[in-house]
Amino acid sequence: MKDPILVDENSLHEAFIPTNMPFREGHLKEILQHLKPALHKQDARNVLLTGPTGTGKTTLAKWILAEHFPRRHAYVNCLNTRSEHKILESILIQLGHVIPENKPTDYLAQKFEKKVEKGTIVCLDEVDQIKDERILATLSSQLSGLVLITNRGRFFDGLDSRISSRLFAADIEFRKYASSELMEILEERAGCALRPDSITPRILELISMWANGDARVALQTLKASAKLAEAKQRECITLDEVKEAFGSARISKREYLKSKLNEHQKVLLNIIERRKNVPSGELWQEYQGMVSEPLGERAYRNQMDDLVKVGLVKDSGDGRWKRYEVNG
Ligand SMILES: Nc1ncnc2c1ncn2[C@@H]1O[C@H](COP(=O)(O)OP(=O)(O)OP(=O)(O)O)[C@@H](O)[C@H]1O
Ligand SMILES: [Mg+2]
Repeated sequence: MKDPILVDENSLHEAFIPTNMPFREGHLKEILQHLKPALHKQDARNVLLTGPTGTGKTTLAKWILAEHFPRRHAYVNCLNTRSEHKILESILIQLGHVIPENKPTDYLAQKFEKKVEKGTIVCLDEVDQIKDERILATLSSQLSGLVLITNRGRFFDGLDSRISSRLFAADIEFRKYASSELMEILEERAGCALRPDSITPRILELISMWANGDARVALQTLKASAKLAEAKQRECITLDEVKEAFGSARISKREYLKSKLNEHQKVLLNIIERRKNVPSGELWQEYQGMVSEPLGERAYRNQMDDLVKVGLVKDSGDGRWKRYEVNG
């Protein structure tokens, strides 16, 4: 029996919070600066963390809340908690309040107003998934500060201007990592997770390059490569395992990105996947026939820009010659 390669699988787990986050020190400082007044029960400046997938937004936000606001914060992922009712319920429970069953949303809103003190910070992750934006106004009037996270750069453009001006959030952008940065992140994680000498710098470098700025893909590839090498009873991880692991990581990234799409984008992507390559005008026509309340043309273009930006779709040509096709 060979020695295991993966000696601490936990430190490669998605939810693992590393003790330090290289290349995010500036973001950390800036966010803390905005939230600091909450430590004295004063109004903090809300923050909006934006940027592509796998750039450390969630991990950094969770780290800050746990380290600096223990017992006075709540974290809600709006991907699976979208309604005002569910969001209020989740926040109240996390802050230690008991809620009788089957109470209406108004009851929760009143309880929230009475019980939640200044000094509390709430993080709404994947905030573009919320069903009703009024929750943002309710929360911001009562709390010290909000940490909002989204992949959508133009999140505020779609909000009612009264709500966005009330939020007055500082926009903090997370860029894709450079491959040299991913290399450093991987080296640090591999140092805890893998048996020494089970991976070469060349292999780490390849993973860093292929991951294209996404730390989640890099870490998933590393973990899956280690598991495959163990299953094959190898002494160390080779290129074969990395190729296979990277293929799976790419597929799961695509599924993950699709799970975050809104209903309009799902319909649009479906048409493109079926037609492979489609002129924008035809896509727009077909989409209109498939949804009961289609978006206007400008909003349609914004949705398409988003699909291109997250990397699910490729575009070519301009104006009336624009075409879309599946990416990857
Ligand atoms: N600077 C870093 N140092 C160490 N690990 C990191 C760093 N940045 C990201 N990671 C790791 O990469 C993974 C993805 O990070 P995270 O979930 O925070 O990304 P995200 O920006 O929230 O992505 P998404 O937009 O898809 O939600 C996590 O496992 C996290 O631990
Ligand atoms: Mg996230």
